[in-house]
Amino acid sequence: MTTAATLSIRRFDAGDTDAVVALWQEAFPEYRDATKPQRNPHLSIANKLATQPELFFVAVLGERIVGTVMGGYDGHRGWLYSLAVDASLRRHGIGTRLVAHVEKTLTERGCPKLNLQVLSAKADVRAFYEALGYRTDEVISLGKRLGEVAASAA
Ligand SMILES: CC(C)(COP(=O)(O)OP(=O)(O)OC[C@H]1O[C@@H](n2cnc3c(N)ncnc32)[C@H](O)[C@@H]1OP(=O)(O)O)[C@@H](O)C(=O)NCCC(=O)NCCS
Repeated sequence: MTTAATLSIRRFDAGDTDAVVALWQEAFPEYRDATKPQRNPHLSIANKLATQPELFFVAVLGERIVGTVMGGYDGHRGWLYSLAVDASLRRHGIGTRLVAHVEKTLTERGCPKLNLQVLSAKADVRAFYEALGYRTDEVISLGKRLGEVAASAA
């Protein structure tokens, strides 16, 4: 398989925006859901560019954007978001490479643990993370929307 062998991972650049939005709209159904205006890929990108933009990565095959991942580190825990691989290139190790890239970057910053959330209906994604050594924590996940997003989602 040549795909992962010729793959590179680099920081997101603003010129990647259209390709990343297209990838996310395919990979994340909620980005196509008109009833969820809070899921706005352009806003997600703008917010990340304002907060730890150095932890927003794309996987590139030739000139083509084929994967994305975002990391975050708040000084206590690391988080991983927006992992997506082009549907035509899945099961070639690209997702594994992207997660490993975030793990390495956060380890170098001294981050002791990386957390992530998976929608409970996504058994395949859970299998992916378990294959990479992630295990279910005995916690429940709580969340609350803030600001304008709270009003639009209500
Ligand atoms: C999850 C995702 C990023 C995985 O990317 P990928 O490049 O296909 O993953 P890899 O090829 O590195 O898979 C590594 C291992 O994970 C497991 N795995 C991956 N996809 C799997 C699936 N659909 N079902 C079961 N196990 C899976 C396998 O053990 C696989 O190894 P194998 O192919 O040798 O059997 C990709 O499926 C995706 O983009 N999904 C849609 C977006 C999404 O839901 N992202 C997660 C948000 S939390």
